[in-house]
Order: sequence, then C-alpha cells, then structure tokens
Amino acid sequence: MTLHDTVRALAAEKQALILAHNYTLPEVQDAADFIGDSLELSRKAAACKAQTIIFCGVRFMAETAKILSPEATVILPNPHAGCPMADMATAEAVRTWKQEHPDALIVAYVNTTAETKTEVDICVTSGNAKEILLGLPADREILFLPDANLGANMMAETGRKLTLWPGCCPTHGNLTPETVKAARAAHPNAVVMVHPECRPAVVALADAALSTGGMLRYAKTSPARDFLVGTEVGLLHRLRQENPEKTFTPLEPRILCPNMKRTSLEDVLFALRDGGGEVIELDTAVMDRARKPILEMLNRCS
Ligand code: 13P
Ligand code: SF4
Repeated sequence: MTLHDTVRALAAEKQALILAHNYTLPEVQDAADFIGDSLELSRKAAACKAQTIIFCGVRFMAETAKILSPEATVILPNPHAGCPMADMATAEAVRTWKQEHPDALIVAYVNTTAETKTEVDICVTSGNAKEILLGLPADREILFLPDANLGANMMAETGRKLTLWPGCCPTHGNLTPETVKAARAAHPNAVVMVHPECRPAVVALADAALSTGGMLRYAKTSPARDFLVGTEVGLLHRLRQENPEKTFTPLEPRILCPNMKRTSLEDVLFALRDGGGEVIELDTAVMDRARKPILEMLNRCS
C-alpha cells in the first residue's frame, strides 16, 4: 500500500477530514478531501460535521478552523508551520494602535493570530477584501492589518483610504517589478497573474491580482493558453492538473513559502495514526471573541 493509500484509508477509518491549502506540497494536496484558498477553507471548516480536521496549511488557518468548528479536534500536522506575516501584528500592539485611533474600524486580513482577531471588527481574505471594504461606512477611518501591500492594493482598487500596519508577506513581498518585466519579455504572449500580497508596483504590471482560488477560476475560464504566475509555487500543481492544455510558469522559481512546505505526507500519517502533530487548543473566551470578525466576514461576502 502506498503512503497516499494508507493516509486515505486511515482518514476514512477515523472519519477525519483532511483540508489543505493551495500552497501545500503536491502529495499532501493529492491526499486531501478538500483543497482551497483561505476563504474556501474557512467556509469548509464552518460547515464541517467531522469530529477531526487535519489542517494542512499554516497555524492561523488551523486556528480559524478551530474557531469555526469548536467541537472538532483540529490538528496541525506540523506544529512549526506558521505564517511570519500573521506574527507581525500582536494583539498587544494592535490594542495600542486602536487607542491611537479610537473611532476607527479595525479590518484584519485573516492572516492574523486568534488572539489578534479578538481585537478587530471584521476579517477579510484576499478573495473578498474588495467586496467587504466597499461595504463599510464611508465616514469611518479604517485601520488595516497586517499586510501593507494588500492594504495598498485594496486602496487602489476601492478608492477607500486605509491606515496601514507595516507588515508584509516575506514570500510575496520579495517579488520585484524587474522580475515581472523580465518574465514578460521572455513570454510576451503570457497572461500575468499575481497575488495581491505582492507590492503595488508589481500588481500594476500584472493582468490580474487574485486570491489563489481566484487564479484557479481565472485560468480555467480565460481563453489564454500561457500564464506567468506570481504567487507561491505550490499553486502550480493545481493549475497544471486542472488545465493540462495550458502552460503555467512561475514569475520566478523562488516564490516559495517555507512554512507551507513544512507539512509532509508523513506528518499527516503520524497525525492520523500516532497522535502526532499539535491539537489546536484555544481559550473559549478567545474563540468567542475571535469568531465575531470571522463570521462578520462570512456573512458579508457572496
Ligand atoms: P489565499 O487566501 O489567496 O489562498 O492566500 C493565503 C495566503 O497565505 C497567501 O500568502
Ligand atoms: Fe504567510 Fe506569506 Fe506564507 Fe502566505 S505565503 S502563509 S502570507 S508567509
């Protein structure tokens, strides 16, 4: 029996749901029950009936799953899989920031810790930030955290002024306009898709700035055959699998999130069979407060 088959048999036996983010290793994605972007995974966790969720992604995503499905046992197969950007805005620092802007609405990218979510009014993902920001009252100041690049890109798209927290994704933030220009010169007919965590100067050179789920939908429906992809290279697995007749080239091969690559299929096996990984434990009061901005987001987006 292959490792894949053993994992699938154990998941069935234990009635566990394996969720995987679009950036995880190909073999982990192939063993999952559901693969998606942050918004799709939140929705899946909210609707989950399983007793056990094996969450292959990074810690803030597993925390979100636990908050939305508190009765389930949520396991992060590799406890070292974190998101450095989520750790850039601690709850304590956000409390101080709020005191300096007492009348502002606090909007947090879902890439934040559970503790930080307790301090905010509403969450967004890259898949719904535009829709949610456009629905907020025009006369309120908005504090946006922790991704200054996503925030700046949303200001450009919505025309809403946002006060930005100085965080960014170390993986997407490294992509430069020079890289995009060089890739375009080498692939003049390609459509360029980038993630809105990239710098505004990079987004300005792209044909589309989309969440990972948005890129999958865009690539499927676009008549184009050649794509340059400006996001974590893990997304190429699904893009190629779902569109075998099209060509996908990373804007550069080093757009890699080490944390998204930490969870191996062996880790998933150990979590299912041997009690490996970390069971996500959150204080009930923290979960109750952190759930509000997440549900506010889910209720407001289509
Ligand atoms: P998506 O919600 O677009 O999948 O993005 C999550 C993320 O962490 C991007 O770096
Ligand atoms: Fe965090 Fe960036 Fe990795 Fe996404 S790609 S999990 S934002 S470090």
